[in-house]
Amino acid sequence: MHKNLDDIRQEFLNFFKKKGHEIVASSTLIPDNDQTLLFTNSGMNQFKNIFLGIDQPLFKRVTTAQRCVRAGGKHNDLDNVGYTARHLTFFEMLGNFSFGDYFKHEAIQFAWELLTDCNWFNLSKNKLWVTVHICDSASYDIWTKQVDIPNEHVIKIGNNTDNFYDSDNFWQMGKVGPCGPCSEIFYDYGDRFQGGPPGSLKEFGERYVEIWNLVFIQFNRQSNGNLLSLPMLSVDTGMGLERITAILQGVHSSYSIDIFKKLISSISQIIKVNDDNTNRSLYVIADHIRTCSFLIQDGVLPSNEGRGYVLRRIIRRAILHGKKIGTNNIFFYKLVSPLIKYMQYLSDRLYEKKDFIEKILLNEEKLFEDTLKKGLKLLEKKLVLLKGNVLNGEIAFDLYDTYGFPLELTKDICLKRGIHVDQANFDQSMLTQKKIAKESNKFYVISKNISLCNVLNTFVGYRDLTCRTQTIALFRINKPVNKIYAEEEGIVILKNTPFYGESGGQIGDSGQLKTISSLFQVTSTKKYGEIIGHLGVVNRGAISVGEEIIAQVDQYKRKNISLNHSATHLLRAALCQVLGSHIVQKGSLVNDQYLRFDFCHYETMTEVQINTVENLVNKQIWINFPIVADMIPIETAKNSGVVMLINKQYEKIVRVIRMGNFSTELCGGTHAKSTGEIGVFIITKEFSIASGIRRIEAVTNNTALSVMHQYKKLLQDIFTSTQSDNKNILNKIHEFKSRCQKLEKEIKHLRNQQVIQESLSFIKEIYYIKDVQVLIKQVENMMLKPLTNLIDCLKRQLKSGVIVLINNKNNKISIVVSVTKDLIENNRINALNLVRLIINTLGGKGGGKPHFAQVGINNIINTSKISTKIDYLLQNIL
Ligand code: ALA
Repeated sequence: MHKNLDDIRQEFLNFFKKKGHEIVASSTLIPDNDQTLLFTNSGMNQFKNIFLGIDQPLFKRVTTAQRCVRAGGKHNDLDNVGYTARHLTFFEMLGNFSFGDYFKHEAIQFAWELLTDCNWFNLSKNKLWVTVHICDSASYDIWTKQVDIPNEHVIKIGNNTDNFYDSDNFWQMGKVGPCGPCSEIFYDYGDRFQGGPPGSLKEFGERYVEIWNLVFIQFNRQSNGNLLSLPMLSVDTGMGLERITAILQGVHSSYSIDIFKKLISSISQIIKVNDDNTNRSLYVIADHIRTCSFLIQDGVLPSNEGRGYVLRRIIRRAILHGKKIGTNNIFFYKLVSPLIKYMQYLSDRLYEKKDFIEKILLNEEKLFEDTLKKGLKLLEKKLVLLKGNVLNGEIAFDLYDTYGFPLELTKDICLKRGIHVDQANFDQSMLTQKKIAKESNKFYVISKNISLCNVLNTFVGYRDLTCRTQTIALFRINKPVNKIYAEEEGIVILKNTPFYGESGGQIGDSGQLKTISSLFQVTSTKKYGEIIGHLGVVNRGAISVGEEIIAQVDQYKRKNISLNHSATHLLRAALCQVLGSHIVQKGSLVNDQYLRFDFCHYETMTEVQINTVENLVNKQIWINFPIVADMIPIETAKNSGVVMLINKQYEKIVRVIRMGNFSTELCGGTHAKSTGEIGVFIITKEFSIASGIRRIEAVTNNTALSVMHQYKKLLQDIFTSTQSDNKNILNKIHEFKSRCQKLEKEIKHLRNQQVIQESLSFIKEIYYIKDVQVLIKQVENMMLKPLTNLIDCLKRQLKSGVIVLINNKNNKISIVVSVTKDLIENNRINALNLVRLIINTLGGKGGGKPHFAQVGINNIINTSKISTKIDYLLQNIL
């Protein structure tokens, strides 16, 4: 009996436990406090700071089964999925780690024992091959002298370029960070498969599969490429759980192991296609549902940037593969259930979030369907107007850019009509757009100059709103200057500043910088790294570098901003209480007018929920909690459950804002002294800004009062103009509505009457083909209902005949045909047959019954010709 995936994972962990390793849980897929990584892509990510010597390890030997995603950044397998037997975007990496404890010798011995010992994985030694870096003679010697692997199976691998350690046998986490030479272990699947040993010309085949990478961490790669030696030598290893499972289950492809077999079979049932084991699209979908479900579980939501964008791309890729194998239904979200069923070991948290994950996927699928529909319509229009057989790549790019319409899909649709897409044009448009985006990033330029100016200023504005200070640098049009003169705009950097630099969603302060002879009006502030820049204009005199000045923040504006910021904290805590703990902040804006809070939640909030949140916040305001700011170590904050952003890099000591026992949040912003100062809090809007993301807008204090006044005035105006009051206004509105409906009905009726009247004038245009009365008539811009009324009305005037009305509505032609009963019964002609003939001659789509049928034609054709053609058809039939 083969071991299953769960047994193999456990066996790995048990082995290393026996060797003195602590079993540590997998971290989430969003790297904690690491901006250099898109997703967790390796077991060592969670230990990065330990390898670098920044954090102290709790244990010197650790083992994990880490869930990983490789779909972006340095390690990206997205495009290989489904095309090779072994690549997955989501997988589990089994690893053992030594932090300054054992090094090459034990790492290699452990790996060999686990793989080959008959009590463990028991693989044949002849099937294993290893590589080492050409300069790593220590590893080479261990493999060849201390391990019973055939010596010719140990291969030295050199560098790919002249750059030292640019090699497949040198592993690094990303562009920067811990790294070192590595030794990779391969499994030989035998000569049934194409390919040669690693390092040979044929190494890219499917015969030799890499299963385990032993990395000997000894450097820290810098952003300039330099390698700094680390104080301790460590080990980081990674074995693909799905790959080793394939070997131990005697199959070649990761997609043939137990869990994938079951998952793929469920998918093929849901999509209703044959699971013939070679269907690459099914592999892709199976891989992607794992990746997407776990990403959403760990807090990533589809969006247009960063992690969310990668997730969106993966979801769309899966959906397109579904379409490719013939499903036009929404299906992807349905795969969460079987996934949970088969993932077993990892399914608990998935199960907890099942509804949420399904809703996010379903929303995203619907959104993509709409997008595709819009894109298709647009493409259709362009194709109709197309002269020749080449579609301009700019159009394909526009579809891609605006509607997320994949180029491949555009190509496919075009190909079916013998049209070719100009790819060079498409690529050019893509390049141009990237260039524009880069150039327009002016902030980047300023930011670079200011960060380079080597200054640091101190923010004193939590306590003081006015202070005496000194200008230390000035900028105009992105360049450093010594003076800014009257009427000129610029940026001032001060030694100390009471001005809050725009950050964390809170806008910057405004106010004045003054000397006896000059005045600089600060309109906003921005942070350039840690430096606060004051943006504004010189109103009087001139301002120079090194000058003493008085900096004065606009107190009134600051006060309102602070009230809104404090209210935002209360709002977030209230949302968590009312909607649930899945509420994660996705953005916020706090200014002196209102506050805005974006958060993930999968459905519209009900009126009751909105009111409950509003009441809860106001209750905290009326309790009048003191608002306290404390500086505490980040670890203490983490352990006591303080709310913080998941992916932010925090300092070691952080500022925590506490409002009674209702809200505790990490925050650098400015706040009221107590919640009572907020006065009152009103939610003005709740709506969706992207799939799975809702936005709340709210006001406080004075603004809340003036919003109430506005509502009151609006209501009063409505009362006056409807001559009602708050008792009967609703009845009045109902009355208006039903009166409107009645009037609309009457208008429709009258229009019909009018049509019938007009139709009588058509009678004189009836002519005969043989003994049959024929009327072929063009009309303009008629809706379907009046059109059918008209045709019925005309038919009543005929004894035995055919009526054809050609309606031109916004350049869309619809043709309706009606035939009297006698002609149908005598088999002379019927409407449906005539419509079929029309379609054969003119194109279009249509259908109907023997007495009435219709056809729609999208292409604009000369309508007068249609009459002639139909007359010709009738001449032939009758
Ligand atoms: N960190 C190493 C890898 O991902 C083990 O290959």
